[in-house]
Amino acid sequence: MTPFTLKVTRLLEAEVTILRAIPTDADDVSAMLESLVAAGKRTSPGDPDFALNNYIVNPDGILCSVAVGPDGSILGLQSLKRATIGNRFDTPVGWGIIGTHVTPSAARRGVGARLFQASKTAAATAAITNIEAYIGAANLEGQAYYEAMGFRTYRTAEKAISKVFRMEGS
Ligand SMILES: CC(C)(COP(=O)(O)OP(=O)(O)OC[C@H]1O[C@@H](n2cnc3c(N)ncnc32)[C@H](O)[C@@H]1OP(=O)(O)O)[C@@H](O)C(=O)NCCC(=O)NCCS
Repeated sequence: MTPFTLKVTRLLEAEVTILRAIPTDADDVSAMLESLVAAGKRTSPGDPDFALNNYIVNPDGILCSVAVGPDGSILGLQSLKRATIGNRFDTPVGWGIIGTHVTPSAARRGVGARLFQASKTAAATAAITNIEAYIGAANLEGQAYYEAMGFRTYRTAEKAISKVFRMEGS
């Protein structure tokens, strides 16, 4: 059976708003992350403290953006951080590290693509030249998403594939 979700109707521009996440979003971000856990698409924690400290107020954060749907619910989150010495992915220092999470009920509707537009702009402003995504080797939809955004395989390990997005002019 294919792990891929079906392509469904793209959300209209006006149906999704991309905003910088703020600390009071932690509970709603947590609910979105827990929906991924429940669907078997996430193994990392999804509680409000983790959402707050790992994504929303992370000291290495460049931009943590949320996609908000027409009813005000959080459909997805993308975090862009600066790689520092000793980072857990061994990403070259100064590169960006990106993570993307879209609730299964909104998947394949263009939310991730919208989030990446915002992250790319933030990366350019922060003078980031390369952005690395660290994706589970079995996570074919994550790999397909990053490929579609212009990331290309940079290195592989037994259980993960790293893809890099090279910013224009770098
Ligand atoms: C991977 C993920 C972030 C994609 O977000 P999304 O909002 O569904 O992505 P989009 O709808 O913006 O898709 C953009 C493009 O990516 C590709 N893509 C996204 N999901 C895909 C899937 N399930 N199968 C094949 N291609 C896919 C397609 O090329 C798509 O463009 P198209 O729909 O016009 O063909 C989302 O499914 C998710 O959160 N998955 C669980 C967590 C995860 O794997 N995160 C990333 C790796 S750590």
